[in-house]
Order: sequence, then C-alpha cells, then structure tokens
Amino acid sequence: MSAIGQPISRVDGRLKVTGGALYTADIPLADATHAVIVHSTIANGRTVSIDTEVAENAPGVLTVFTHRNMPRMNPTPKPWSHLHPHGQSYLPLQDDKIHYAGQPIALVVAETLDQATHAGTLIRVEYEVERPVAFGPQTAKEAVDPPQFLWPVASSVGDADKAIAAAAVRIEQTYTTSDRHHNQMEPHATVAVWDADGTLTLYETTQHIFGTRELLSIVLGIPPAKINVVSHFLGGGFGGKAYVWPHTLMAALAAKVLNRPVRVQLTRAQMYSMVGHQPATIQTIALGAGEDGKLAGIRHQSISPTPVFDNYIEYAALCARSLWAASGGISTNHKVVHVNRNTPTAMRSPHEALGHFALESAMDELAYATGVDPVALRLLNDTEIDPHSGRPFSTRAMRKCLTAGAARFGWERRTPEPRSMHDGRYLIGQGMAGAIYTHWRWPAKARVTLNRDGSALVEAGMHDLGTGTYTVMQQVAADTLGLAPDKVTVRLGDTRLPASHAAIGSATMANAGASVMLAANAARDRAIELALTGRDAPFAGAGREDVLVADGMLALAGTNLNITYAELLARNGLSTLVADGDYDPVEEAQGPKAVFSFSAVFAEVRVDPDLGLVRLSRFVGAYDAGRIINPKTARSQAIGGIIWGVGQALLEQSETDPMMGRFLNRNYSGYLVPTNADIPELDILFVGEFDEEASPLGAKGLGELTAVSVAPAIANAVYHATGKRVRDLPITVEKML
Ligand code: MOS
Repeated sequence: MSAIGQPISRVDGRLKVTGGALYTADIPLADATHAVIVHSTIANGRTVSIDTEVAENAPGVLTVFTHRNMPRMNPTPKPWSHLHPHGQSYLPLQDDKIHYAGQPIALVVAETLDQATHAGTLIRVEYEVERPVAFGPQTAKEAVDPPQFLWPVASSVGDADKAIAAAAVRIEQTYTTSDRHHNQMEPHATVAVWDADGTLTLYETTQHIFGTRELLSIVLGIPPAKINVVSHFLGGGFGGKAYVWPHTLMAALAAKVLNRPVRVQLTRAQMYSMVGHQPATIQTIALGAGEDGKLAGIRHQSISPTPVFDNYIEYAALCARSLWAASGGISTNHKVVHVNRNTPTAMRSPHEALGHFALESAMDELAYATGVDPVALRLLNDTEIDPHSGRPFSTRAMRKCLTAGAARFGWERRTPEPRSMHDGRYLIGQGMAGAIYTHWRWPAKARVTLNRDGSALVEAGMHDLGTGTYTVMQQVAADTLGLAPDKVTVRLGDTRLPASHAAIGSATMANAGASVMLAANAARDRAIELALTGRDAPFAGAGREDVLVADGMLALAGTNLNITYAELLARNGLSTLVADGDYDPVEEAQGPKAVFSFSAVFAEVRVDPDLGLVRLSRFVGAYDAGRIINPKTARSQAIGGIIWGVGQALLEQSETDPMMGRFLNRNYSGYLVPTNADIPELDILFVGEFDEEASPLGAKGLGELTAVSVAPAIANAVYHATGKRVRDLPITVEKML
C-alpha cells in the first residue's frame, strides 16, 4: 500500500505530549547565562541617559549592554530577500534613537534568569519624548507609494476605472482589518554558543535556519560556514518566526563578548513589540458588473502601516489580481503610512487573509445588489486563465470547490433574504466566499541514506513548525523506496543538513517534499542498479523498468525473484547507500502556467438578536491544494486555519493607544483567540488533483489557504442573519448593536 495518501498520525506526537521534545529554550547547556531585554516605554524620541550602574552591581550580573557598549552591526542587506530575511532593518542597541514603544534599549546578562530580571528593573532611563505617529484613518491620508517588496506594488490589466464607471451595477466600499499578533504558545527564544574555534551555534525559534545563518553572517560579519543554526521543534511559528528579530542578534553578540552561552527568551508582553505582527489595513474595493452579475471591472487598493525605517507592504490587494475574471480590467495598488511601530511581518495567510475579507465581502454585496446567488455569482465569474498574467492556471478546481462545498453545506436550502432564517429566537445566517492562494516554488536539497538494516534516513534542512513535516517527509521517502513508513527516520532543523528553504508560504510539501522525493528516487535507482549489475546481481540481464519496490524489497516483475534492501547492501559490502536530491524549480512567474491553490468556504452563524453575539455554528471548507499527501495532517492544517479565520473574524485585535503609540493588550488575557468552545465541528473536503506544474509530488500549498476567506464567509453570514453589513474586523458585539 502506498505510504502517500495514508492518514498517518504525527511521528513526533508522543515525544511532544510526553514532554520529551526539546524546544529552543529547553536546550540544556552547562554554563549558560541568562539575558533579559529592557525596552523603551516611549514610542518616539531618544534616550538622554541610561543609568546602568546599580544594575551592573546587582548580584549575579555579568554585563549590561546598551547602545554604548553593544558591538556594532553591519546594516541589513538591500533589497530584502527570503535568502537573508531580516525582520526589521533598524538594529538593536546601535544608537540612542527610539522609533517604537517596546524597542530594546538594554540587555542585562546574569548568572540566573531571576538575577537578570531583577537587575533589569534597576536601570534608570531618561528620554526626550516626541509625539508618536499611530496608524488610523487620519494618518492614512498621508499614505505614500512604497518601493517594491515581494511583488509589484501596483497592477493594471485593461481599464478597470472605465469599466466600473460604465457598469450597470457598482459596489464601492471601504473595509478595514485590525492589527493582529501571532501569539504563538512558545515565545521566541535564542540560545547562542560560541566554540573555541569561533563557530557560533544558535539554537533558535525559527522557521528558516538557513536564512537566519545568512542574515547573521552579513550583520555580524562572520562567514556562514562558522554558523550553525538549530531548530528541531517550534511551538507555533505562523510567520512570526520566519525572519530574524533583534533579540537574536543581541544574544549572539553578547555570548561572543562574554565568551559564555547566552539564553534569551522574550516575555509574553515582549512578543508584541520585539517581533513583528500583522498590520491593520484600510482597503477600498470598487466592483462594476452587469445586471447579470458578470464582472466588468475590479479596483482594489490597500493602505497599511509600516515603521519609519522600513517599507513592509501588506499585499492585501494581491488576491484581486487573479481570483475572478473581469471583462474590462482589474487594477490594484498598495500604499504605506510611516508610523512609530516596529516592522510588521508575515502572519499566517499574510496578504490573502486580509484582502479576501474586502474582496469577498464586496462580492457578497454585489450578489445582493444584482439578486444573483453568491455561489452562482462566483461560478459566473470563474476563469481558467489567470487575469493577471494571461497564463492558464495549472489546475483550478474552483468550480468543484463551489459545487461540492455547497452540496455538503446544503446551500440550496438557504433563503437569500436577510433575517429570513431563524432557530427559536436566534437569527441564522449563511455566508460563503471563494479564495485563491499563492504557490511558492523554491529550491531545496535533501539526502536519503539506505542503511544495512533495511531502514532509511531522510535529512533535510527543513523544519517542522508543528505542521507534521517529520511525518509527511517520512511518507514521501517510504512511498518512493517501497518501505514501511516506520522504517524511515527523518532529521530536520539543522544547517549542517542539506540546505532547504524557509518553512513559510505553505510551501514545504511541494518544494522540500520534492527534494526528499528526488533523493529517495536516486537512492532507489542506485539500489536497482546494484540489483541489476552489482555483486551476485539477482536480476542480472533484466531491464530496470521491470524492477518494483515494495515492502522493503526489490522484486522483478513476472518472476518470483526478489531481494531486500538489507541483503542487497550486505551482498555488495555496503554499510549504507547515500543519495542526494536537488530540487531546483523554475520561479513561479517564469513557468508556462499560473499555479495557485483555491477554496470555497461556507459558514453558518447564530446571532443573538438582543446581545448581538455571533457564534459560528457550522463550517464547510472545500479545498483544491493539489494532491493530498496525508489526509490526517492536512485536515489538521485546515482545522488550524479555520480557527485562525474565526479569530480574525470575531475576536482578534491588537489595540493601540494613539497618544502613547503602544500596543495595549499585550497578553492572552486581553488579546482574544478562539477556544474550543468557540469552534463547532468543521467539515473539510479536499477536491484537488495531482498538479504536475506545482510540484513533482502533485501538491500545492494548503496550510495558509485554509485561513483565507473564513472572515468574509462569516461576515457574509452575519449580514444574511441580521441585515447588518460589518466592514471592519473583528465583528465584535459593539459593532452588532
Ligand atoms: Mo507563513 S505567514 O508564510 O509562515
């Protein structure tokens, strides 16, 4: 039976639930010192004085670093790249300027965490304060055009403005989303250790060990060969651990100066300013359509905040480029406003999860304006050609997502009139949305070793951020080699392993997975070669296409000849057989087809008409993510993604004090995320098929796709239940009353 397609449970599950998995801050190190970060309480200005004397003389304190004595760092490289991904370009403890609240201003290193924490409270700081700039509708008026970051900032196909102006039906609305934070259970942590020979080993909470190594090499001026980065397990990444943040750089340099290992772990409150977050957006959508609902023009514009020293763009309008066809044209653009904030970053389903709220809410408004059913409206505007690039989609099962999802949900029983469906005193609302998600193609390397005992080892510099990578890589290798999955061991998360890409963009299965498949293919081919031409070759004279692999052995078709891998290696005097996989795909933009993942999602809400309280009662998601390698871990991804979307729709919001420029709710007590009681049974369908353009494995990106369009489906359901259109996330009780 093929190992691919099996609903195998996570191989690291037992290790995790028994506490056996060592996370970054758990790495036991004799002689480790503890660092605590002291941060600014103002958001704009400079430090006039930092009095560290009392802290330096406190028990156990080794050194207090400030901008006066922290070694200098090299500037972060330009342009920004996934190959050397800095979280922010403003580097810690290099000068006296303050650009955001919560910016590091000192690092206290002591023998124990308690000593460092106590000494941190003894530092006295005097500031020169300037009024901070906070993001909101007022500052959005000062939006500027940023330089290009990941994609072109603006796009235009046809003449959207003309098409919209001439259209029989027009929708023009502004939609806003809130600042949000990742809130991983595991706080960011770094343990930095320098060897006598000048090699830095960094145990790091990262989704990108090789990017961390490259960035540190540049900023700290150390050759990459002298840096090892290790990350075996992550307690949540969600994009927040994709790039390198200031605490990592400070820990590495402090360890060098002190010649002792340094361990730093952010406090929960520091998770809201020492590392990135998802920026708020103000999005304007204009749709022009015929009376039949056929789109003529789409215009989608987004404004988001970025710090004074960086130009991070949240590409919320990206989705409008390729989701639906519009006969007259599609235009998009993005602007930024410079504020006193640390640099935003990718947060699970960056760009798309925000943009779809606006676009798919506007589509629902168009459905009501034209009287066309929301599912029928999307079927009508579906397209086999990517409107943006003009290329055909490699695979696009949008119609299947829409029809299969609607059938499972029972959409045909919905009565379209708002407030027309009830259950006792509760208003029932049903809403839906479609989604498109970027597919990334990145190079990746892996190594597969067949051992003399018939087992195999997979090694790749990839990560498991909790998504099941150890498990699915085992399946891919087992499938290719014809081994039982439990005969395959997977090693990840160390830059001493073959170089791979970041565990971001829902790209791991398609790209790192392909490298494992190629390595396993090469190992299998070498084994077949030995069976045909090696010592006492059992299949001598046969053709390689007649050799089959299954159950840990090679067999010759049409005969009863076979040999186990173990015996084959023994016969040839080999202790191991090693093969490399080097996956080097063309960049997505260069390929002949446009590759994206797709979905259609359906939400039912119950709204208390007196309290305005919205509860999700049912959810169906239909996903086209190509071939599904493991239906169990894939379903887990979808559950996680939908829950993210419920948080975005109904709960999550990082509140800023506009006077002080500080995030206010810097704890789980003030930042609400969904709990089990908020989530009903989730119904998940996979309708995609093997996509050879996307990956030799046939898989497209899945994880983040599942967090997209949950919010508009819920917002549309809320409108259907109540007749109230909420265009500002999250949909809190205050907005319902
Ligand atoms: Mo994801 S936000 O690309 O880790």
